[in-house]
Amino acid sequence: MNAPLKGLAMQAPAYVRNAKLIAWVAEMAALCKPAQIHWCDGSAEEYDRLCQQMVDAGTFKKLNPAKRPNSFLATSDPSDVARVEDRTYICSATKEDAGPTNNWMAPAEMRATLQPLFDGCMQGRTMYVVPFSMGPLGSPIAHIGIELSDSPYVAVNMKIMTRMGRAVYDVLGADGEFVPCVHTVGAPLADGQKDVAWPCNKTKYIVHYPETREIWSYGSGYGGNALLGKKCFALRIASKMGRAASEGPSGNPGWLAEHMLILGVTNPTGKKYHVAAAFPSACGKTNFAMLIPPAGFDGWKVTTIGDDIAWIKPGADGKLHAINPEAGYFGVAPGTNMQTNPNCMASLDRDVIFTNVALTDDGDVWWEGMSEAPAHAIDWQGKDWTPAIARETGAKAAHPNARFTVAATNNPALDEAWDDPKGVAIDAFIFGGRRSTTVPLVTEARNWVEGVYMAATMGSETTAAAAGQQGVVRRDPFAMLPFMGYNMSDYFQHWLDLGKKLEASGARLPKIYTTNWFRKGEDGKFVWPGYGENMRVLKWMIDRIEQKADGSEHVFGVSPRYEDLNWTGLDFSAEQFRTVTSIDKAAWLAELKLHAELFQQLAHHLPQELPATKAAIEKRLAA
Ligand code: GTP
Ligand code: SPV
Ligand code: MN
Repeated sequence: MNAPLKGLAMQAPAYVRNAKLIAWVAEMAALCKPAQIHWCDGSAEEYDRLCQQMVDAGTFKKLNPAKRPNSFLATSDPSDVARVEDRTYICSATKEDAGPTNNWMAPAEMRATLQPLFDGCMQGRTMYVVPFSMGPLGSPIAHIGIELSDSPYVAVNMKIMTRMGRAVYDVLGADGEFVPCVHTVGAPLADGQKDVAWPCNKTKYIVHYPETREIWSYGSGYGGNALLGKKCFALRIASKMGRAASEGPSGNPGWLAEHMLILGVTNPTGKKYHVAAAFPSACGKTNFAMLIPPAGFDGWKVTTIGDDIAWIKPGADGKLHAINPEAGYFGVAPGTNMQTNPNCMASLDRDVIFTNVALTDDGDVWWEGMSEAPAHAIDWQGKDWTPAIARETGAKAAHPNARFTVAATNNPALDEAWDDPKGVAIDAFIFGGRRSTTVPLVTEARNWVEGVYMAATMGSETTAAAAGQQGVVRRDPFAMLPFMGYNMSDYFQHWLDLGKKLEASGARLPKIYTTNWFRKGEDGKFVWPGYGENMRVLKWMIDRIEQKADGSEHVFGVSPRYEDLNWTGLDFSAEQFRTVTSIDKAAWLAELKLHAELFQQLAHHLPQELPATKAAIEKRLAA
């Protein structure tokens, strides 16, 4: 057995003055029993040291510095490659508050379940104390978290993904608030036991206690399961915080934590707008946030504020202001290339952590859809990979949910206001699912309620971002199904209330759109060219805001006719346009049945505006 930790090893650095934090770390160390504690300072030296330590341990491979300076490749255990939604819990005091879309267990029961798992879980390992800020340090909309993790991979990823380091303690001070996040890979090491490259446990729990604002994660080292500032804090806990701020007599409208990219778009007259877009996991947020307008869109420019998460608050000006709480991108590698996303490719030139992509013979990385396949590579599972092997066995060089971790500052299209504590004023929201049929390219809601209806009833095909079956259409309200920290119907109500309050204050509400880049033809291929060509749709939206673009009204809202879009530089026929925009009555009757099923599931607290909107659509569809 490892000796229990005591004395100097526990000593916090002098700059850590928060008594509650120090007591909590001591308590967690007593429970998890790590061999030592490392208080992360967030310095470059620390990052380099931890990366080198992981190279020595076999967790990281250092990539060829001539090809990919200061970059590393990690390959995970094949059982630990994505978020685990069926192991994710919202343990609110009551089941109703978690709602029917979340796994729930009574807090006391969950604590009793986790206690024996966490007891001694870090034996033989280092506990890293990772201080981070979601949002610009010291900003009134930022929040601090402290993650305790026995994974050095988590520590270095958190350095890229958040504002991580010593300065957090200055803001935290002696009695500031923080969200405590405990993470373990769940693989204690007995004395002398040799470690593996990617420790994890078959048993996994990703647990949130919304009332006490705690996060406990057990058994996985991957992505959103382990980088607790991201989905666990910035979406699940933060969504609950944003709603809680609106409760009580103060009249505070509260705020929103959303699974949204944020972009700036400047038109040829120099006027700049801001758009926030919610697409489900692996459905195009990073791509859209870094979009380069195609030829024929002279004078248009798109800049990135964020690619995954937005915190949105009403400002004194009556507008909704959005910040990106993150500082880096944990993005999908497969499919990314110089045609689909040149800004992303440029971001990945150096200082990157790649996870689960393939290693080429010259010490670089490769993934499906990056470029012509190399003659030979080592795949993400460490096996030889060649195009011939791929043809015979279907083996993928990179896992479909392979990812890169890179600082936002590597992005050549980074918006100058990406770090502005005030955030940017949102002019439009987009909700876009992945649907091979039924849902048209783009629709504008005629009003806020209709927009909330579209977002609430959005369906999308499941992707490799989460463990489980892929390509299955499911309802993914607001692209938040896996990330909602409280009752989904209460969340719909929060959106409706926020709209009402803003409207009452005389503000012009952002327009709301739905998109679908993913309609397929009879050949099974995407009909819409997507990526940079999505600019054609974005331009129409901005022109609509300026009341410069036409469209035609139909049962769900307003969509552009063929002649309403700019087709310069793209060979896309009216017939092709019809296949991505047509509204098939039979398909929509079937779709509305799915909306009805969703509303039945969410009946408790479902705002009556939503079934009323559905009834109005049905009436128009029948007419
Ligand atoms: P998360 O990080 O999981 O939240 O996802 P994301 O929404 O940021 O996903 P991302 O932009 O990384 O897209 C992932 C997948 O969608 C890749 O396979 C892309 O090639 C594909 N994709 C993105 N944009 C488009 C598009 O406009 N059309 C088509 N057909 N595919 C797209
Ligand atoms: C997603 O799945 O939506 C992601 C990746 O952005 S993860 O951080 O793993 O959740
Ligand atoms: Mn995401």
